[in-house]
Amino acid sequence: MKLSDNARAVLERRYLKKQEGKVVEEPEDLLRRVAQHVAAVEAEAFHLPEAEVAALAEAYYRVMDEKKFMPNSPTLMNAGRELGQLSACFVLPIEDSMESIFESLKIAALIHKSGGGTGFSFSRIRPQNDQVGSTGGVASGPLSFLKVYNASTEAVKQGGTRRGANMGILRIDHPDILEFIDAKKNRGELTNFNLSVAVTDRFMEALDKDESYFLVNPRSRQPVGKLPAREVFEKIVRSAWENGEPGVVFIDRMNEANPTPNQGAIESTNPCGEQPLLPFESCNLGSLNLSQLVKACDGRFEVDWDELAAVTRLAIRFLDDVIEVNQYPIPQIEQITKGNRKIGLGVMGWADLLFKLRIPYNSEQAIQLAETVMNRIDMESKQASAALAEERGTFPNFTGSVYENKLKLRNATTTTIAPTGTISIICDTSGGIEPLFSLAFVRQIMDNDRLIEVNHAFAEIAKAEGFFSQELLEKLAETGSAADLPEIPEEWRKVFITAHEIDPEWHIRMQAAFQKYTDNAVSKTINFAHDATPEQVAEAYRLAYKLGCKGLTVYRDGSIDNQPMQKGLET
Ligand code: CDP
Repeated sequence: MKLSDNARAVLERRYLKKQEGKVVEEPEDLLRRVAQHVAAVEAEAFHLPEAEVAALAEAYYRVMDEKKFMPNSPTLMNAGRELGQLSACFVLPIEDSMESIFESLKIAALIHKSGGGTGFSFSRIRPQNDQVGSTGGVASGPLSFLKVYNASTEAVKQGGTRRGANMGILRIDHPDILEFIDAKKNRGELTNFNLSVAVTDRFMEALDKDESYFLVNPRSRQPVGKLPAREVFEKIVRSAWENGEPGVVFIDRMNEANPTPNQGAIESTNPCGEQPLLPFESCNLGSLNLSQLVKACDGRFEVDWDELAAVTRLAIRFLDDVIEVNQYPIPQIEQITKGNRKIGLGVMGWADLLFKLRIPYNSEQAIQLAETVMNRIDMESKQASAALAEERGTFPNFTGSVYENKLKLRNATTTTIAPTGTISIICDTSGGIEPLFSLAFVRQIMDNDRLIEVNHAFAEIAKAEGFFSQELLEKLAETGSAADLPEIPEEWRKVFITAHEIDPEWHIRMQAAFQKYTDNAVSKTINFAHDATPEQVAEAYRLAYKLGCKGLTVYRDGSIDNQPMQKGLET
């Protein structure tokens, strides 16, 4: 496996086995460990003969080694090791009781320790100053418990693996919603949480008609007040414009797509928003690296559709095996996860693929291709899941699911588009379906040496087309963008477009194009220029709702100091 310096550093820091602080595993050993551990479960659970298990392990190893498929981080870290917890995403319920609030807090701590992320809806907690029957006192409300969860996450810090990530959700009709929208106004607060407002269809309708909507006390289920939808919407928009939070999730839409409504309602997603789950449900993700699923034809690249289909089918089998071999933090999580057998196959390397195919991200052609690619992956994934159902049986909660009488599936969901924050670094490609932030950046190496790292596809094409030079690299590393560099021919400047030069509308259309063929949700940040207005952000929310997105995260350039990714700088 050819690794970039950055990929090696990431693997050494957290993924490779260590003894007394020293790395004792090579990246190839890690891939073997994962491939063998996951394949081995087929001998145990499905009586696969030894020779076939070995061949399967080899096939799993090969797709990872060729960087065509990568499972989510906890699988890479923990497969074949003591913890054995392989899922990235969990949702835990919080009932309106001290027992439930602190029970889920404890489970969350165990999950964080194993590298998983947790999502919670705080919507069932009675509002601040509401009555507390048992003590005659007044309730402290969801926000105060959110702070407790944040502090606990801070203390756990995922000993040895990664820092706990959380999603905190509050319904738009919860009486404490205004305080929730402002909860991250003070920088440095709730830093272990992403916050999202669960927006209902009823709210969107009230917004459309410029009407008020009811706030409901979750304890009594009685309406306790009314707010003008437009004012609340503007407050969300303003806050997102200022600091990127809260995001929104279209909760009714998530429930419309709930494949097992008889098993409960969806209240929350995982931390990055791409995986809606039922209470106690977990899901393991994996991603195809689109930039490696190409073939050369007459000196140009095209998508290798046969290979894409073959790797998709293998990936679905891999992810289904992970459900079987996974070690679950508590029995309730194991029960519902094995009941629905949700998996989430997605993509990374989309921007790099577009570079290779010479298609600008902000073009009709790119939107079309996004739909075609994801449609194909989704179809293949369903066929693969149906084939597994033939051999191994449908998911146990199949009866009563939306698939009953339609299609016998092994998995209640098969597709999700994750951010691929770390696995895209390991594969040295662009993250998820995001455009590139920067075509080049400066890396400080030992002493005062500096090294300019440039996007591979750009370097290759620039050399082939004869506009590559050290001088050009220096300029690129400064701004990250090709936009103002006349030495790059215009047609190539259009292809090598970066996140901030792409209109928000194209970001949203891309998200919607992938969402159309994705069971779960799509992780995507909608980037705005620093001088974008709140009205433009408001428009983006409306468009995302109209185009069928399941949620939205916006980010205005430079709106917070600790911007997650800065142009021209290493992240
Ligand atoms: O690339 P990698 O597999 O490490 O993760 P990702 O695709 O960036 O994130 C997928 C999911 O992993 C997130 O939505 C979270 O549920 C979880 N995650 C986490 O718990 N803690 C992190 N620091 C990053 C991700």
